[in-house]
Amino acid sequence: MPDRSPKQLHVNLFEMNCVSHIVHGLWVHPENNRHRFNDIDYWTEVAQLCEHGTFDAIFLADVIGAYDKFRGGPETALKEAVQIPSNDPLLVIPAMAAVTSGLGFGATFSTTYEPPFAFARRMSTLDHLTKGRVGWNIVTSYLPNAAANFGYDAEVPHDHRYEIADEYCDVLYKLWEGSWDDDAVIQDRVNRVYTDPSKVRYIDHAGAHFRVAGPHLTQPSRQRTPVLFQATGSPAGMEFAGRHAEVVFTGGLTTEAVRRNIANMRAKAVAHGRPADDIRFIVQAGVIVGRNDVEVADKVAKYRALLSVEGRLAHSQSVIDYTAYPRDTKVSEIKVVGAQPWSTQIDRSKAELTVGDVLDQLAGFNEDRFFVAGTPGTVADEIERWLDVDGIDGINLRQYLSFETARDFIELVVPELRRRGRFREAYVPGETLRERLYGAGRARLPDSHFAARYRDPRALAEPAPPLRFEPPVKADAA
Ligand SMILES: Cc1cc2nc3c(=O)[nH]c(=O)nc-3n(C[C@H](O)[C@H](O)[C@H](O)COP(=O)(O)O)c2cc1C
Repeated sequence: MPDRSPKQLHVNLFEMNCVSHIVHGLWVHPENNRHRFNDIDYWTEVAQLCEHGTFDAIFLADVIGAYDKFRGGPETALKEAVQIPSNDPLLVIPAMAAVTSGLGFGATFSTTYEPPFAFARRMSTLDHLTKGRVGWNIVTSYLPNAAANFGYDAEVPHDHRYEIADEYCDVLYKLWEGSWDDDAVIQDRVNRVYTDPSKVRYIDHAGAHFRVAGPHLTQPSRQRTPVLFQATGSPAGMEFAGRHAEVVFTGGLTTEAVRRNIANMRAKAVAHGRPADDIRFIVQAGVIVGRNDVEVADKVAKYRALLSVEGRLAHSQSVIDYTAYPRDTKVSEIKVVGAQPWSTQIDRSKAELTVGDVLDQLAGFNEDRFFVAGTPGTVADEIERWLDVDGIDGINLRQYLSFETARDFIELVVPELRRRGRFREAYVPGETLRERLYGAGRARLPDSHFAARYRDPRALAEPAPPLRFEPPVKADAA
């Protein structure tokens, strides 16, 4: 009998271990707590708040370099605190896990620069400490400064980064899924045997990019492999996600574009022998809610007044300083030295885009499809459309003020969503993050996932079939 209950929303709080993550300029607001990010109490407070709201997880973004293209250097990023200073996302998770029991944690880590063996242990350690509540946002890093921080003269080319990432994950799966048997640890105090050596093995990985002997140092944790998140829109990234990702960040300017991106991604999973439904789709969303329209308008005005266009330009690595041109200048007339990274948020459909148009867009909220400002009813209506019409499964809730954005969502939107049967009433005690997304009994990756091949130790000796990257075609935006 098919489950006819309405689709429920998954909600992650979109966080970063820094002051200004995405909505730049608002750190100056007296009620904002972002400046407390160095303080362990900030993280225990935000974790307890999100647990109180039964959020799925706190999702920690991260970059390992500075934004230093705008105005030819990192000065604006430093002045505006755009993701610098920043701290390691993995290191705040144990503190948050210690004061919560249901909340999950997603952490970003790059596959391009630090070798996999040490990362494998860090994530297994976190999966133990959180009792299976951890996920990994797989990124290949897009900042030139990140490459320079790890001894590279230039960025590793885009598609090549995904080739490296594919082998990186292959090594991790061998360590997480193949190196130890579930019953290796026996703690036999009579015969003084802690681990049965016959149930632990080397992985002897020798690939184009990595050579790792193993064995993994950490005994199996509840999920073994953390939940695998990924954000992508490129052909190479989607090919990679088809093999690896369990949760994909998607987007689009129209319902048609969102549905097409989701359908394309499901087709990629099927092409990799996985059920089409083995991927959940999350979007980054902006929600500003108030008890009445006056309160909503006040909040929108309060936030908008502090938005920093320069902060956004620094974040988008813009090589054009639009603030230096008269507003009626046509963008097409601006000569650019070097590639101008068009951020997808700039609607370029207008024939003769002027500097004024760009500045107005950068000074606005309405980035893309997933933004709503309104009373709880209005917000819940919109969210139901995102779930039922666009076909998404959840949101990364973008923060305007910490902790006001999360608190407002919990106090005003969650009760309305629950009233409509669209959000959990409570956590399932002891569930892992993977079970929260895929249902009870699914703590481990399914057998249909590529990583499961290493549950048969004989597969450790077989080279993994490489991913096939087609020549780039632009993903749908319009
Ligand atoms: C919601 C979301 C969160 C992201 N978080 C990060 C992040 O924390 N660190 C990072 O380096 N890249 C992050 N990215 C960028 C992606 O990892 C990736 O570089 C981008 O989506 C382009 O992928 P593509 O080149 O495969 O299309 C994020 C992207 C999205 C949409």
